[in-house]
Amino acid sequence: DIPRYVKIVEVGPRDGLQNEKTIVPTSIKVKLIRKLVSCGLPVVEATSFVSPKWVPQLADAKDVMDAVKNLEGVRLPVLTPNLKGFEAAIAAGAKEVAVFASASESFSKSNINCSIEESLARYRAVTSAAKKLSIPVRGYVSCVVGCPVEGFISPSKVAYVAKELHNMGCFEISLGDTIGVATPGTVLPMLEAVMAVVPVEKLAVHFHDTYGQSLPNILLSLQMGISTVDSSVSGLGGCPYARGASGNVATEDVVYMLNGLGVTTSSC
Ligand code: HMG
Ligand code: MG
Repeated sequence: DIPRYVKIVEVGPRDGLQNEKTIVPTSIKVKLIRKLVSCGLPVVEATSFVSPKWVPQLADAKDVMDAVKNLEGVRLPVLTPNLKGFEAAIAAGAKEVAVFASASESFSKSNINCSIEESLARYRAVTSAAKKLSIPVRGYVSCVVGCPVEGFISPSKVAYVAKELHNMGCFEISLGDTIGVATPGTVLPMLEAVMAVVPVEKLAVHFHDTYGQSLPNILLSLQMGISTVDSSVSGLGGCPYARGASGNVATEDVVYMLNGLGVTTSSC
């Protein structure tokens, strides 16, 4: 049994463009977001309010947000790594944000320059500030199966971080195979561990296609009851701090598979 409706979270303008070698002009980013919205995608992750020294590709976050913030019929979350990013996002007109923790200690250090526990403390500050403004916060867990430095990551570590994010008030937890090493064989025990501590309807999956495993991984996730899937138009993406991470699973491939399964999405 798989869910009859799947919500697609389009992450191309953020996860895709953060990884492009050439910096895409703001006007092109805005055009891309508008086109994605016109496809009927219900959620389009627009940009990140992160340090421009760490991710110069998204240094124009404020201008991108300014141009898209009034688009109707779509949610446009942005990534915020700390309170500073959260405040900048809100000032720019963001109405939804996402925080991003890792299940790998080494990846946490190289991606956001702090330990897992320090990141959770930062995110508690973000979720409590967001709560006061009624801003929904999504929580990511990265490296849910493997880490570029540590290799295999144990499902209990993923479950711990997911539960902490859920406890601090994240409305949805997206489980990210940051470097695209997962197979259905490793996704199954990871999801079982996480589903034991966070309700399945709060979970999303986020796969990268390094070894072409995203669609089988998504199919397995649907069979386990997950009904929110992250994807990126034309498979744009990667991760600047995860060497070898290729693109995210392509949105059009996910929609094609879901159509074939008779699952409804709101995208064409
Ligand atoms: P840090 O260097 O430790 O920060 O970076 P700091 O607090 O020491 O501050 C240093 C400077 O950064 C200061 O400026 C701060 O003001 C500034 P200075 O005094 O030197 O001029 N700063 C900021 N500027 C703008 N926006 C901010 C901000 N915060 C501090 N929010 C930090 C720590 C977290 C900021 C940095 O490591 C960072 O921005 N990292 C972001 C990395 C990133 O975006 N990675 C990609 C997204 S995660 C991902 O792709 C995985 C995912 O897709 C899921 C999956 O695939 O698994 C989500
Ligand atoms: Mg990603």
